[in-house]
Amino acid sequence: MHILSVPRQRLPTCILYGIIGALAVAVLSYLIRRVASSSRTKAPLPPGPPGEFLLGHLRVVPADAVFKKYAEWGREYKTDVLHFETFGTKTIVLNSLKSAVELLDRRGLNYADRPRFVMFEEMGWSPTLTWLRWGPKFQLHRRVLQPPFTKSKIGRYTGMQRKEALICCKGLIEDPANWLVAVRRCSVAIVLKIAYGLDVDGPDSPWISLAEGSAEAIGKAGAPASSIMDHIPATRYLPSWLPFMERLRYAHTWRSAIQKTARLPFQESLNQMKTMSKLDDAYFTHNRVAIFNENAKKGLSNDFDLEDIKGAASTILIAGNDTTAATVTLLVLYLMQNPDVQRKAQQEVDRVVGTDRLPTWDDVPNLHYAKLVLQETYRMNPLSPLGIPHASVADDVYEGMFIPKGAIIYPNVWAMLHDESVYADPFRFWPERYLDKEAGGNGEPLPVGNFGFGRRICVGRSLAENSLLIVLAMILATVDIGWPLGPDGRPTPFEPEWSFRGQAVVMPFDATITSRSTGLLTSIDEELRALENGKVI
Ligand code: HEM
Ligand SMILES: *[C@@H]1O[C@H](CO)[C@@H](O)[C@H](O)[C@H]1NC(C)=O
Repeated sequence: MHILSVPRQRLPTCILYGIIGALAVAVLSYLIRRVASSSRTKAPLPPGPPGEFLLGHLRVVPADAVFKKYAEWGREYKTDVLHFETFGTKTIVLNSLKSAVELLDRRGLNYADRPRFVMFEEMGWSPTLTWLRWGPKFQLHRRVLQPPFTKSKIGRYTGMQRKEALICCKGLIEDPANWLVAVRRCSVAIVLKIAYGLDVDGPDSPWISLAEGSAEAIGKAGAPASSIMDHIPATRYLPSWLPFMERLRYAHTWRSAIQKTARLPFQESLNQMKTMSKLDDAYFTHNRVAIFNENAKKGLSNDFDLEDIKGAASTILIAGNDTTAATVTLLVLYLMQNPDVQRKAQQEVDRVVGTDRLPTWDDVPNLHYAKLVLQETYRMNPLSPLGIPHASVADDVYEGMFIPKGAIIYPNVWAMLHDESVYADPFRFWPERYLDKEAGGNGEPLPVGNFGFGRRICVGRSLAENSLLIVLAMILATVDIGWPLGPDGRPTPFEPEWSFRGQAVVMPFDATITSRSTGLLTSIDEELRALENGKVI
């Protein structure tokens, strides 16, 4: 779990009582808003299943694999846009790419907000772009976090990304039973370096497990706009020992762990900077602290202060760490499950790279099939099946349906990427589907939406894509991935376990990973040594 995870949970009974206690207020404000909004507009709200008396859709919407249910409701009510409501908070689900592009991209300014997430604030996070509401602070953070990760700027990270890909494959070969450790280490190392200029030295590096506790805390924080505090903000000032304030209590318990996650690497980075004669611009904290100091020296004011730098750096770490790891894990899974795809991708690497050296960035543009393997991985299991919710800034009308101000907007990316009218046989892992018909494919469009939409689209998407491509190329060049061996010593297919609460994640699974040839470990070691001695690749 990480910052991007928005688990939707059924409210425990004790919280339910609390909510019912506060219903008098909620119902009244709901009725007032309802009367006000119906007199304002003639367009009806989008369709959806009926809600329950007073509770609305609170218990109608399931906690598990809700994106599948939304897709079903879309078919049942013959609509690509659905509406739900709980205590006056309206939720709009966009099941089609067409509606998401029209609203979140084309009318993006009106959908650039995020829902209120009081729990998050109560957990004591520094300013975090992911959850900043629309406004000057959001614009400031977006303006600072977007430019360093554009396509023209991420070239400066490629050397480091390739080095981490080499270390990853070394780990896979040396300790195949713990392949997931190598994958996770690689993902942490890349973003830790970019955010703070810090290195993950060995497998015991404290930075690897830094966010363990806070990740769990975010998972338990529930979805934005799902706590009583999001609906009736004043309740956050109630004492947290009240029975229905369980989640507030939780937030406060984890506060110090969470603050440590952001503070420790930032502190270490600041310490390191003191001993350096020249700061490296490529690392986020170095870059921003240099600007901060420069301004301070000139007596200029700093609108992006140290608290902002700390928050933004931790956003890079948390938003980029396990999204990358989870995608590499999916790549391993799909390559294992689809041996023909794996063989074909390996043959491409062997053809482009040859077998006497390891892949470099010059090879990546020529790995056409490997790129489609990655695209198909994005499509099969978008990590955030419902994206990260946006919120509407003002009333709007879409195809005759009313989208009220302040509604929570979920793009159902999973539904878009499993739409049978766009993707034939959508549950089949078939990278060729994107090729033209003449090339043996089906001419289907590359997946859109797994990195989000509009003004909130993932700032790290090109950076992440580079990490994934070089790691994939290196994996294909160095190892074979097969089913784990059963008690009889034979490869044994199985279906791994998944979690579909909020995020779509595959649980850790076993695989048989073997080096593709005997000299590989030596070649990797040699390259790593050469890199240490300053040889640039
Ligand atoms: C495979 C890897 C990744 C995936 C699948 C992914 C996915 C997403 C998604 C779905 C969103 C929400 C977009 C929206 O609201 O419409 C998002 C936002 C964000 N991502 Fe990523 N991401 C990945 C990697 C990264 C990396 C490496 C970084 C670090 C630079 C990053 C930084 C962010 C930030 C800062 C936001 C918040 C943007 C905002 O609210 O304005 N992500 N990402
Ligand atoms: C990185 O993500 C992994 C899960 O992939 C998690 O266990 C770890 O705590 C995270 N580390 C940091 C520093 O965020």
